[in-house]
Amino acid sequence: MKVSSQDILKETQKTLELIGKAELTAEEKSWVTEQTAAHYANHVNPGILEYRKSVSTEYISVEWADGGDHFTDINGKRYLDLLGGYGIFNVGHRHPKVVEAVKNQLNRQALHSQELLEPFRAILAKLIHDITPGDLQFSFFGNSGAEAVEGAMKLAMLHTGRKSFVAATSAFHGKTLGALSATAKAKFRQPFLPILPDCYHVPYGDADYIESALRSADEVGNDIAAVILEPIQGEGGINVPPDDYFPRVRDLCDRYGALLIVDEVQTGMGRTGRMFCVDHWNVVPDIMTLGKALGGGVMPIGAFVSNKTVWEQLFPEPWLHSTTFGGNPLACVAAIANIHVTLEEKLPERAEKMGNEMMAKLRGLRRRFPKLCTDIRGKGLMIGMEFPTDAIGYEIAKGLFDHGVLVAGTLFNAKTIRIEPPLTITAQEMNQAIDAIEKVFKEVNAKHFETRRATVRKVTAP
Ligand SMILES: Cc1ncc(COP(=O)(O)O)c(C=O)c1O
Repeated sequence: MKVSSQDILKETQKTLELIGKAELTAEEKSWVTEQTAAHYANHVNPGILEYRKSVSTEYISVEWADGGDHFTDINGKRYLDLLGGYGIFNVGHRHPKVVEAVKNQLNRQALHSQELLEPFRAILAKLIHDITPGDLQFSFFGNSGAEAVEGAMKLAMLHTGRKSFVAATSAFHGKTLGALSATAKAKFRQPFLPILPDCYHVPYGDADYIESALRSADEVGNDIAAVILEPIQGEGGINVPPDDYFPRVRDLCDRYGALLIVDEVQTGMGRTGRMFCVDHWNVVPDIMTLGKALGGGVMPIGAFVSNKTVWEQLFPEPWLHSTTFGGNPLACVAAIANIHVTLEEKLPERAEKMGNEMMAKLRGLRRRFPKLCTDIRGKGLMIGMEFPTDAIGYEIAKGLFDHGVLVAGTLFNAKTIRIEPPLTITAQEMNQAIDAIEKVFKEVNAKHFETRRATVRKVTAP
């Protein structure tokens, strides 16, 4: 150890006391803020301090609490959460029913024996069968979206006996090595190439490209195990495909014997106005991946789900794919409560209604500031606002942050700002958000796009 155990005990004791406190003193607040910034610099990653808008001012914002549709920082500044953890907080922050389920489970048993049968893993798997489309029936639970994608890709290889994949440009499926093969961003992939060498990326949204990739692969004997796609590309900039895209891709997969993996990690659990985004097009994938909002904004959990024919490969050897913490009772009860709340509060319907209203208001603003905001697109409460450059998008995101509204958008990735609030957002909160967006649009528009009248200086003849 680099530090004496006595000192470590002192520090852990102090931290544990802070965790247990309802109110911090001013001195404690500045201690936590200073420690957080210093430890990010020395033990997490100093790059993050350069990059995040929450530390880009003289005021460092350290998160401390959340509830409903907002986050609160350690000094009590409230942020209306339009970022929603990129699709985690569909039922809101710390929904009482999710928290209650997790607390009750924690009071009885936290993690699983790894030998006895687990009741809530079983009940959750059955519920996921109930809410997913078509013949999707079996689920494996992991801890993240990327893990779900890894499992889905392995299962597709196992079932088809093939090794290649077709994915889309601008896709995001996670950053573990398998998922990264399907992810499209060069900056994330290049240092690790060749990853899975036979993963071909074609432009998103036009099924002709999928067809030609499947046909060419077929011709050269490089058969495709699966086509993997997001129903709406999130990280790629809220790219909504035309309505015939997924039905056509489904047919093509069937024709060429490839599986269709639909990655609903971000779009799932009501976000786009249906329980799953593919429900908009009545398409049933062979494998679906879930994550983010599945744990009710309280516990991390991911899943891949498939029909019985595909899953049968895992019957004789269930441990071909496994993970220690996946499907743990705390995560499973959170997901069960999440499904309950999503249905009870009719959140998919709410996402559709509130999303349409929000997009109409944003389009109204776009018409007033056409040079600043070049597009508004989305489905339900998965909305993208597009700006001419990353720099201008960042000014908007930063301006909103200063006005207490949290949206996506970092220094190098803000050309399209994603809006993914809790699906529980109220009309009043939405109006508050629109008012802030209008104010910031006005400020940034005036700075970049309003022509200032040239001051005419009178020149007197000599
Ligand atoms: C569509 C999609 N798939 C997979 C992932 C990876 O999920 P995680 O970050 O939980 O590994 C993400 C994360 O943003 C995602 O949006």
